[in-house]
Amino acid sequence: MKNVISRRGFLAKSATLGAGAYPAMLALNLLPAAPVHAFDLRPGSGQGKHVVILGGGLAGLTSAYELRKLGYRCTILEARERSGGRCWSVRGGATTAETTNLRQTAGFDKGLYFNAGPSRIPHHHLLTMHYCKELGVPLEVYNNVNEGSYYFAEGKGPLSNKKVRAREIHNDMRGYMNELLAKAVSQQQVDTALTAEDGAKVLEYLRAEGGLDIDKLYKASARRGYVEAPGAGNQAGKLTNPHRLADIVSSGLLDPDFYNVAEYTYELQMTMFQAVGGMDRIAQALERRVADCLKLGAQVTTIQNQPDGVKVIYTDQQGTHELGGDLCICTLPLPVLSNLSHNFSSDVSRAIDYVPYIQVGKIGLQFKRRFWEEDEQIYGGITHTNNELTQIFYPSYDYLSPKGILIGYYNFNEKAQRVGELTYAQREQLALQKGQLIHPQYPKEFEQSFSVSWHKQPYSLGGWALYSPEERQTIYQALLKPEHNVYFAGEHTTYLTAWMAGAFESARSTVAAVHNRLSAQRVVYPTVKNN
Ligand code: ALA
Repeated sequence: MKNVISRRGFLAKSATLGAGAYPAMLALNLLPAAPVHAFDLRPGSGQGKHVVILGGGLAGLTSAYELRKLGYRCTILEARERSGGRCWSVRGGATTAETTNLRQTAGFDKGLYFNAGPSRIPHHHLLTMHYCKELGVPLEVYNNVNEGSYYFAEGKGPLSNKKVRAREIHNDMRGYMNELLAKAVSQQQVDTALTAEDGAKVLEYLRAEGGLDIDKLYKASARRGYVEAPGAGNQAGKLTNPHRLADIVSSGLLDPDFYNVAEYTYELQMTMFQAVGGMDRIAQALERRVADCLKLGAQVTTIQNQPDGVKVIYTDQQGTHELGGDLCICTLPLPVLSNLSHNFSSDVSRAIDYVPYIQVGKIGLQFKRRFWEEDEQIYGGITHTNNELTQIFYPSYDYLSPKGILIGYYNFNEKAQRVGELTYAQREQLALQKGQLIHPQYPKEFEQSFSVSWHKQPYSLGGWALYSPEERQTIYQALLKPEHNVYFAGEHTTYLTAWMAGAFESARSTVAAVHNRLSAQRVVYPTVKNN
């Protein structure tokens, strides 16, 4: 039977798969750029009003920073001995204890770090980039996409248990898929409903896209690399041969573990950025602006709505304290909030207790030599695996310097849960054992590690909130309204979950709402359009 694709369907599909039309339009100035600037609320009668902010992560710090510009008095209560929450870069001296593991302290060399939390900023997260600019935090390019990194599939296929450069698989698959499509189109097996002239253009496009030869067949092409590189004189270079499609499939390299997420996910497309010196430079810059109202080591135990304000009980090294405020902005992750005592309504309690958070883990491995650069020409980017490692991230800073820290695994869900159950030493052992299947240099060059399971970090208890579309319409809604005198902010109150942008957007939206209420003004958020 003939497969019929309408012109509209065809265009829609190609746009989804290949084009990334929106950023392209933005880049070509076909869409107006979103204005992002300092938050411009009219200063109101902030004087005298006290806002208690729970959590000194990015959402809490930003809320205080913006409210104080408007003249409000703020107190931020942060349970950890540092600010930033999940925005945390691990350097020598960094320390943490997990719910089921004792304290570990990083011994990394001076100048080396890895981002245990956020590590990359999409170029269209304008508000995040705006705050970096406003706070004087320099950014540099984060290399998220690297065709020279590897795919490594454990299994039984001919390409299993060996590292294969991403460029080989990507270009072989483009070749084979476009060859199939070109055959189908030229033999009129699919009805594209195109004119003969447009059909010919589509065929030419498929040939170019797939790197097909003049007969529209996929053969060797320079895209997937050389066995012998081109050079001087008569050294023309020798092309590699494509892998067989059947070998790619049977080796598991078409499984979801190896989907081309970087190019096909809006947030992961280049250009991406990182803060120079570690992503928590953003949190530290905010902290400097609000340090005098930030209480570290202050663990909230109770949040009570009162008829005319809020009462918060917290403990610190001195004992138990009660703090009153006119309003409260609660940015605590929901699994943490779930363990506190409060007098919230049943709708809010249900959301707090039922929204699942992702299990996620990372390990930083310090090596005395950047063998991935020196031996393998890998400068940034990600190697993908189907084993517990899931991903190896190569650092996007200090290229060609002597030492470096790799993120030896960055895993999610069941894999992160299994690895999170291990001791720090066992996690290191696993990262080294699986990692050396890809990089045999590991044993010789390894120096030390530090691992973080976010679902086991006491004041986070998860990576980020996960909502189903249905939950967005139901329990999520309860968190978007103030619960009498308590507002909720944080990535979990946005459609930007898992991104710093969620913290910033939610802080702005909440500050606008609080300011409206306390100063009887009507400011509509967003006053700044983002995209
Ligand atoms: N935003 C997170 C990341 O970049 C999920 O991996």
